Amino acid sequence: MTEPLRVLFVCLGNICRSPTAEGVFRARAESAGLGDAVEIDSAGTGDWHVGSPPDIRAQVAAFARGVDIQSLRARQVTSEDFDRFDLVLAMDRSNLAQLEQARPAEARADLRLFLSFAPAAPVAEVPDPYYGERDGFQDVLDLIEAASDGLIADIQARRS
Ligand code: 4NP
Repeated sequence: MTEPLRVLFVCLGNICRSPTAEGVFRARAESAGLGDAVEIDSAGTGDWHVGSPPDIRAQVAAFARGVDIQSLRARQVTSEDFDRFDLVLAMDRSNLAQLEQARPAEARADLRLFLSFAPAAPVAEVPDPYYGERDGFQDVLDLIEAASDGLIADIQARRS
């Protein structure tokens, strides 16, 4: 059997965007029959919310689209993550810059913006919804759904 592709989603706090991405991508990968082909996790570059469940607004918005993320708990990115994961997907350029700084020189992970898998999206970054209105979470979900489908198509192409 081929090794699973290990994917880590990263944002700032690991309570809004990256746990949403973890939940949405897991659900879509399972629906696509790729449940055993991927290992999925999420983390934050910051440590303020370590151990916390996702922001209640993110939980409610994801649940309304059929994705339950309430059991996830925030953690911070570690240097081991850059070896454990094949793909480390940043929500915005600030997250990506932090990851590039933290990445050990010999680490093998491929670091990218998550929305590189959604080339038709109107933006290149998943905007931080933490200080905004509820609609921000709908935008986050729209972008994450599109990039999840793009990533699934990419994985299917690699495997065929
Ligand atoms: P996230 O959102 O990076 O999508 O989880 C944020 C959560 C918390 C904070 C900022 C962004 N914060 O400043 O505490």
